[in-house]
Amino acid sequence: MYKPIAYEITETINFTEEVKLFRIKSKINPMPGQFIEVSIPGIGECPLASCAYNTDYIDLLTRNAGNVTSAVFKLQKGEKIFFRGPYGKGFPIKELKGKDLILIAGGTGIAPVASLIEYIEKNRKDFGRMYIFFGFRNENYILLKDKIEKWKNKFDFTLTLDKKLVPESNLVCETGFIQDIIDKKKIDFKNSSALICGPEIMMKCVSEKLMSLGLKKNRIYWSMERRMECGFGSCGRCQIQDLYVCKDGPVFRYDIIKPKIDNEESANEVKT
Ligand SMILES: Cc1cc2nc3c(=O)[nH]c(=O)nc-3n(C[C@H](O)[C@H](O)[C@H](O)COP(=O)(O)OP(=O)(O)OC[C@H]3O[C@@H](n4cnc5c(N)ncnc54)[C@H](O)[C@@H]3O)c2cc1C
Ligand code: FES
Repeated sequence: MYKPIAYEITETINFTEEVKLFRIKSKINPMPGQFIEVSIPGIGECPLASCAYNTDYIDLLTRNAGNVTSAVFKLQKGEKIFFRGPYGKGFPIKELKGKDLILIAGGTGIAPVASLIEYIEKNRKDFGRMYIFFGFRNENYILLKDKIEKWKNKFDFTLTLDKKLVPESNLVCETGFIQDIIDKKKIDFKNSSALICGPEIMMKCVSEKLMSLGLKKNRIYWSMERRMECGFGSCGRCQIQDLYVCKDGPVFRYDIIKPKIDNEESANEVKT
């Protein structure tokens, strides 16, 4: 589990200049929200989540962010990619059963949420109503367009753009941040849980909005991103107070992780 293994890339799709999807032949099928450590010999490793829930392949929706991901970007169909895992605790599937679900994601944060949607599609009767909100900067940043079109027909799906570049286009979407448009849906929060993945500021603003609308804080889950090295709780790189994002997460309940992030930020302020 700790040694990277070579897998074949069977397809690549360019979504934007910065984001590419790599389909990789693999039977490992991580649970939604888990991650793998992709490894580029001589350069390093980085954690990525699969955006598919499938027993024959994993899909890596990869943003070209730096050293490792730019090397991943150069890989072509037919070449090998090395990775180890899966690691971490994903979304709390057992606790979500029977609940109405509010799935919220932005940018490449849609990756783990897309895998959760595919899990739910395969186990639909286990879950209640589904509300999905995906946010992107503008039309040029929309990812997984084909899947979004399919999900729009299947679920209560809202696509929102921070700004619409072509206001008169026939793209069906909202304009604005998710926290500003979410109350257009009359969601009954009594039996709901929210699963959120995206930039931390977005997760914070959306959570505050959901709580103001009546969702309890112990029904909100964040999928966290932190710098990682080992991926299995040994190096301490991803630590937030007494929790390791790699081993105890990356999915955490809001009421557990948020106070620890706040404490960490206050401690850092005192140091500087
Ligand atoms: C559990 C988990 C799942 C992830 N899933 C995905 C995914 O599905 N798709 C995807 O594109 N990205 C995902 N990421 C983020 C991805 O791991 C980072 O973008 C990547 O590690 C950058 O590595 P690099 O060597 O290319 O960049 P570096 O050269 O190491 O860094 C480039 C820049 O990115 C920042 N950065 C590096 N790592 C992280 C990080 N983990 N979180 C936030 N900022 C970071 C650095 O501060 C720097 O500004 C995930 C991260 C985690 C922890
Ligand atoms: S990445 Fe090493 S402890 Fe989490």
